[in-house]
Order: sequence, then C-alpha cells, then structure tokens
Amino acid sequence: MKYDFDKVIDRKGTLSLKLERCKALFGTTDISPLWVADMDFACADFFIEAFQKRQQHGIYGYPVIPESVYDAIISWFKVKHNWSIERDWIVLCNGTVQALNFCVELFTQKDDGVLVQSPVYPPFFSAATSLGRLLHINELSFANKHYEIDFADLMLKASASKAFVFCNPHNPVGRVWKEEELLKIADTMLRNNVLIISDDIHADIVYKPYKYIPIASLSPEISKKTITVVSPNKTFNIAGLSIAALIVEDKDTRLKIKKFIDTFQLSPANILSIIAIEQAYTKGDEWLNALLQYLDGNRQLIISSLQNHPVIQAIEPEATFLSWLKFKSIDLDDAGIKKRLVEEAKLGLSEGRSFGNGGSGFQRINFGCPRSVLENALSNLKRVF
Ligand SMILES: Cc1ncc(COP(=O)(O)O)c(C=O)c1O
Repeated sequence: MKYDFDKVIDRKGTLSLKLERCKALFGTTDISPLWVADMDFACADFFIEAFQKRQQHGIYGYPVIPESVYDAIISWFKVKHNWSIERDWIVLCNGTVQALNFCVELFTQKDDGVLVQSPVYPPFFSAATSLGRLLHINELSFANKHYEIDFADLMLKASASKAFVFCNPHNPVGRVWKEEELLKIADTMLRNNVLIISDDIHADIVYKPYKYIPIASLSPEISKKTITVVSPNKTFNIAGLSIAALIVEDKDTRLKIKKFIDTFQLSPANILSIIAIEQAYTKGDEWLNALLQYLDGNRQLIISSLQNHPVIQAIEPEATFLSWLKFKSIDLDDAGIKKRLVEEAKLGLSEGRSFGNGGSGFQRINFGCPRSVLENALSNLKRVF
C-alpha cells in the first residue's frame, strides 16, 4: 500500500488532547487512549508539503480566503456526494461545534425547544442547554444490534421545538441515514416549521454499501430549511487546524449567520487551516480511498473478533472510525466497566453514558489507529471480559 497506516507514531510531546487528558479522565497515563475522535495516522503528504512551503516564507500576517477554496468545496460535494452547492451558500467558520452553537443561538430564543437524537456526540446537548434552550430528546431505538428512529416520538418532540440538531452520519451509533429516513425526518421538521441544523462532519467516512446523502440535497424546500455543517477535520485528521463550512441556501438565514461571523470575527484567520481545506478537497480523494480501505479492515476486525462474544456486542458502524460496543450480561455498572477497562484492560474508551439517554452500558472505541494497536486493544478486551 502506498500509505503506511500501520506505522505507530508516538504522539507524546505534541500537545495531543487524546494523551494529555488521560490522567484527568482515567486517572492514569498507562492506557491505550482510544477515546476522542481524532486518528493516530499522519495526514497525507500533500498537506505537509503545502504547510512546509508556506511556513518557510516566514511572514504569517492576516490571510484572505481565496475563491479557490469555495471552488474546492463545491467540486468535492458535487463529485463525491452528488450535491450541487452554489458559491453564495458557503460560509466558513472555525469548527463544526462552533457552528452548531452559534446557529442555535441565532435561530432560537431562550426557552425554545431544541431537539436532538440520543445517544449522540455530547456537544449536541450543550448546544441547547448552555444557551438556556429546552432540550428535547428523541431517543433512538435499539433492537437486533441496530438503531432506528422512533418517528412517532420525533413528531411529538418536533412539535415543541424550533430547531433540530441532526447528526448524519451518526456519532456514536454509526448509522448512515437512508433516503427514506431522511425524507421522513425532513417532512416532520417542515410540518412543524423546525430548522434543521445538520452536522455532516462524518460524511466522507462511509463504508460500502452505505451511502451518505445530505438531507438538504433532497429537495429545494428541505434545503431552504436546513443549515448543513461540513468539515475536512475528521476525514483528513486535521482537527487541530479548526475549519468548517456552513452550507446555507436560504438567503435570510445566511445573512444572519454572516453578520454574526463578521461581528465576532469567527471567519477562519489561520493560514494553515485555509490551505488545509483547499488541499483536502482538491487532492484528498486517493488518500481517502486508501484510508477507507484500511479503516474498513479495522472495522471488520472488531466485528469478527467480537462475534458471539458473551459480554461485548459490537454494533456495525456504517460510517465513522468509531465503534459502539454494548456490554451485556455483566454484573457491573458503568463505573465498574470503566474501572475494569482502565485497570485491567489498560484501555481509555469514551463512556457511553456521556452520550446521553441510551448510552449507559455502552463504550465507544476509536479504531482510527494502526491495526497492531487495535489488535492489542481487542485482545485485552477479550482477556478481561
Ligand atoms: C458529530 C461531530 N460533530 C463535530 C465534531 C467536532 O468537530 P469540530 O472539531 O469541527 O468542532 C465531532 C468530533 O468528534 C463529531 O463527532
């Protein structure tokens, strides 16, 4: 293989959150940290070459965002996801979570209902609660190792909400929502005049035969009622560079966002992140295909290793480099599972309960790591449980 995803790279001394927070979260650094969602692979050479070229110049003054960045975004989403975006619809900012938060702030009022589906990436909850909104939760239904949407409950909660913060593909349960599900979601939101804020950061890491469909791409009516947030942060392992794009067709919605971004200076002002987004969306295809092949190998390894395991059930991730593990038939609560994971299996995973209702009894493992690291983690899991 042209790219060496097997290489184990020491991240010590690189200000890595994944390593530096271990002591605080797990009480020790003597663990394999497979929690926060960044990968342990070096990013593609073309990023490093572009950064080195720019870095050698020596002057790092205020940058502008060139038109070529917008062209790159338009072309990536057209070619990869068959979604036609217009230049004017794109607004850049510094991160996906930043965008979710300011969209809730801008388009809902205090005490308005904000709807999310749990279990979900924790900042979805805080986007509502930290801004004084009422959090409504549509808990995903879990049966036969698979997650589905409870549409009757979604309708009920939507009727009391002003915005729906949606995750497509979904972290942590790994679903890639199908067209018929997306249409039903959109219909529910449009009927109740609920704004859809769709976090599509995991759009590019999807395994065959699943297919990511941007909800806004389904019709002009849905597009006008949707803000989609996309980013190369996860796909290309450049989360530390902080960049994201909002795709907003509706002009009034977009102008409000732009005004807010201008007022608070939230437009990307980091030279490297501006270079990175263009590099990602113009040169990233080949590297991404190789990455997907490698990640799929890791995903299959988790599924086959834990098949018929008496305690740990792996939910098949249709997307993402995160696997959602259910701990069953075990006489331990969440704290007990974590204690055994840390002390005996020497693993730092993301605790299911932090993903809200429906998360208790689960742990999330990040498999965006070299195969040998994953093999070691799986063998420790099986030894201890
Ligand atoms: C669904 C989802 N949204 C957003 C983020 C973070 O994105 P950013 O670093 O661009 O804020 C993550 C990271 O795990 C995520 O899983």
